[in-house]
Amino acid sequence: MDITPSQFFDQHFTGEPSHLAFAPGRIEFIGNHTDYNGGLVIGAAVNEGITIAVRLRDDKLIKIVSDLGNLTERPLGNYKPVLGDDSWTNYPIGVTKVMNEAGMHCQKGYDMAITSTLPSGVGMSSSAALELAAAHALAALYAFETDTAGFARIGRKAENEFVGMPCGILDQGVCAFGRANHLIRLDCATEDFSTIPMPEGTHFWIFDSKKKHALIDSAYAERFNECQNAILQLRADYPKASTLSEISYEQLEASKDRIDPTLYLRAAHVVGENARVRAVESALATEDLQAVGDALNASHMSSRNNFDNSTEELDTLVDLLKLQSHVYGARLTGGGFGGAVMAMTDSTFSQRHADIIAADFKAKYGYKPTIFRTQSGDGARLIS
Ligand code: GLA
Repeated sequence: MDITPSQFFDQHFTGEPSHLAFAPGRIEFIGNHTDYNGGLVIGAAVNEGITIAVRLRDDKLIKIVSDLGNLTERPLGNYKPVLGDDSWTNYPIGVTKVMNEAGMHCQKGYDMAITSTLPSGVGMSSSAALELAAAHALAALYAFETDTAGFARIGRKAENEFVGMPCGILDQGVCAFGRANHLIRLDCATEDFSTIPMPEGTHFWIFDSKKKHALIDSAYAERFNECQNAILQLRADYPKASTLSEISYEQLEASKDRIDPTLYLRAAHVVGENARVRAVESALATEDLQAVGDALNASHMSSRNNFDNSTEELDTLVDLLKLQSHVYGARLTGGGFGGAVMAMTDSTFSQRHADIIAADFKAKYGYKPTIFRTQSGDGARLIS
């Protein structure tokens, strides 16, 4: 889009917004489907994201427009999720509802204009960016106070309870706590966040397969349920464990014959991912970038073989990337079942290398993946 977020606001609502907030997209670096299993995950906020411009209205209406959708209108207090073309409004409306329940008082409605620099549908969580940008904008508008973790929880609660997606805290947490030139580590059991400096000279490339399973949300919910069932079965042997992240690899192996074979594979993915997050932390501390890359590759293999959340196109992208000597490692990023692959590369990996991969992919599937390079950026914030 060529106009600024304030100009876009002016086009629809005439005049200046009183507040502007920005929230970034995120990369899931490693720790796949660990978040709702009380585990460890490392991600990074990116520079691209969503900007929200808001202003109070004189009446009790909420009007929301986005550069991807129509102008929508509903009365303040009408907080029912909608289906169809306007379902993107469930994110800011869900956030409004959650913030109201947490004590945000709204006497008047608001005008909200949403603009995005984040490619949607590539697994970089435009939904968390929308939630967090809305939360920061509304907090400023209605003088509501919370801290960074509070903003992350508001976004997650809106997603879980209003949008109806049983996600963990990864997307909203990384979006909230992002820091330029850093990775963000989350312990989802304690909701502790910390930062890890990005090794110098490393880059992120995203290769979007442009394909997704038709029933992506129900596939995610199915994995969520399988993980819940896996821990239920394992509890027969380990009654004190409340999540899969409290089960060690040795314990899982010892109980292998007593749990359902599919649930064993799901558990093996989560237990393995937690171990790989720890391995990546140690490797980053000693700047052993090849060991980091090996863990990324192993994570993808586990998605493919254990968690069954990869696709043929994603596997092909990872296989092609692994052939390049400038690539440390590659894996699907985010929930899976389609979407994008993330590669960590050295600084000599260039568009020319990316184009070779795109051409090889096209030879197999008849179309090119969307490719872009991104950098770690700062977390969600009020701009003005
Ligand atoms: C999606 C969810 C996250 C997380 C990842 C998988 O992105 O929104 O909460 O579960 O999938 O790691």
